[in-house]
Amino acid sequence: MIVDGFAKVNLSLRVRPRDDSGYHPLRSLVQSVGWSDRLTLLVAADDAFTIDGDLPAEEDNLAWRAVEAVRTEAATRSRWSLHLHKRIAVAAGLGGGSADAAAGLVAATRLLRTPAGTAERLAPALGSDVPFCLVGGTAWMEGRGEILTTVPLRPDYAVAIAVPPFELATAAVYRHWDEMEGPTGPVIGGRSLPPSLRGFDDVGNDLLPAALDVRPDLGDWMDDLAERWDRPLLLSGSGPACFAFFADEEEAESAVAAVQGARAVWAGVPVAVGVRVVGE
Ligand code: C5P
Repeated sequence: MIVDGFAKVNLSLRVRPRDDSGYHPLRSLVQSVGWSDRLTLLVAADDAFTIDGDLPAEEDNLAWRAVEAVRTEAATRSRWSLHLHKRIAVAAGLGGGSADAAAGLVAATRLLRTPAGTAERLAPALGSDVPFCLVGGTAWMEGRGEILTTVPLRPDYAVAIAVPPFELATAAVYRHWDEMEGPTGPVIGGRSLPPSLRGFDDVGNDLLPAALDVRPDLGDWMDDLAERWDRPLLLSGSGPACFAFFADEEEAESAVAAVQGARAVWAGVPVAVGVRVVGE
């Protein structure tokens, strides 16, 4: 089973104070983009897990945890070979780990022919963005990420994404947001937005002030990027990936060609799915 899992960007991310569960309820407009990891899952004589890309193949990897969760649920003795071709930048706010988990859930539930709804039921415990990554496209994400409302939107733009040469840990950024007493992030609007997004009046990210405080060099990096791209930037998730809207793929590709010193860059268009089965 070969399954692609797509990255996401948060078009808007509004955060509320931590609740009794220790999580911050949020309201976020999320969009899948065509930057993907590819997961290959096969029945094998013994368990094996390999990754090519910027990550060690460890048992706490979300792709492996996802297939394990399905295997436990199905109470099967099958052994698996799992290979992950990692392309999405890690610890960047792009939901790469969640995309891998969603791809793992889809691959394993298909291989084991589990009852309908198994992947959806197992998704929230793997991570906040996993339920969205199973569905993909454009959606409002609320609560801890488990409440999803898909938005019938036909995106009319391309995005360029640039990831600065450092990582940010989601938990650290949320902790810092608490210490700063819950700041709100700047909002962009009007003609800075592609027409399909102009009806949304809260396009911005509340985690930006906290991310800038945790990593002061992010500010300089964003200033330089905003100047090169000549438009406002958005932070995706808890960062540090930044993105901006462009009229089409060609413009977005010229934009990423102008970036210097990034850990990773990507240009392309939004996609309507979170995972795609590319081979049985
Ligand atoms: O669920 P996920 O693995 O993305 O979250 C990583 C960490 O980020 C959590 O352990 C929690 O500390 C923090 N977080 C939060 N509120 C959210 C999402 C994440 O406090 N809504």
